Amino acid sequence: MKLWIAPAGLHIKPASTAHVPTLARIHQRGFFHGWKENEFSSYLARPDQTPIYVASDKKNRVAGFMVLRLAKEEAELLTIMVEPKWQGKGVGKALLRAGFDDLLASETRAMFLEVDSNNEAAISLYRGFGFKQIGARPGYYSLKDGGKATAIVMRIDMV
Ligand SMILES: CC(C)(COP(=O)(O)OP(=O)(O)OC[C@H]1O[C@@H](n2cnc3c(N)ncnc32)[C@H](O)[C@@H]1OP(=O)(O)O)[C@@H](O)C(=O)NCCC(=O)NCCS
Repeated sequence: MKLWIAPAGLHIKPASTAHVPTLARIHQRGFFHGWKENEFSSYLARPDQTPIYVASDKKNRVAGFMVLRLAKEEAELLTIMVEPKWQGKGVGKALLRAGFDDLLASETRAMFLEVDSNNEAAISLYRGFGFKQIGARPGYYSLKDGGKATAIVMRIDMV
């Protein structure tokens, strides 16, 4: 089984069915249109197309996770989340690194993502990793208060 060592005594490995309720709970808590269990289950059923990486502690408690979508030469970062108590400890960076390591020997040539232009932490994580802004989609996200937010589109080339 694949396993990556992460900071703070955590490890990263592919998600299993036992993780699904926890991933859905964390995602729904974090996002207005959070994914339900059936969405995570369908991603989990196609690990070659939508791999899910989970960072956990020694007791297998989830600290964070990331979902990618792979389509031939392109990969998309669908979501990445780190539980509040684990944030700022390098877990997000380690999840990205694990996904990247996995793709280096694959046909993937570039990874794309969309991020809310107000999400400073995520944008800083992506920039620090090497993603560059390639576009913007005004009004792309619907907010809880009925407002809209701009999505920034970013890209990184696999080297
Ligand atoms: C974005 C997120 C995944 C970052 O995860 P994390 O584990 O806290 O990030 P790391 O500790 O690996 O930090 C990596 C880099 O991210 C940036 N960063 C992290 N937290 C930050 C903050 N609060 N403010 C500004 N930059 C921040 C920094 O550039 C940091 O690099 P540095 O440590 O060299 O300064 C996390 O904040 C999160 O889960 N947010 C809620 C969900 C979300 O918005 N996901 C992204 C959209 S799908």
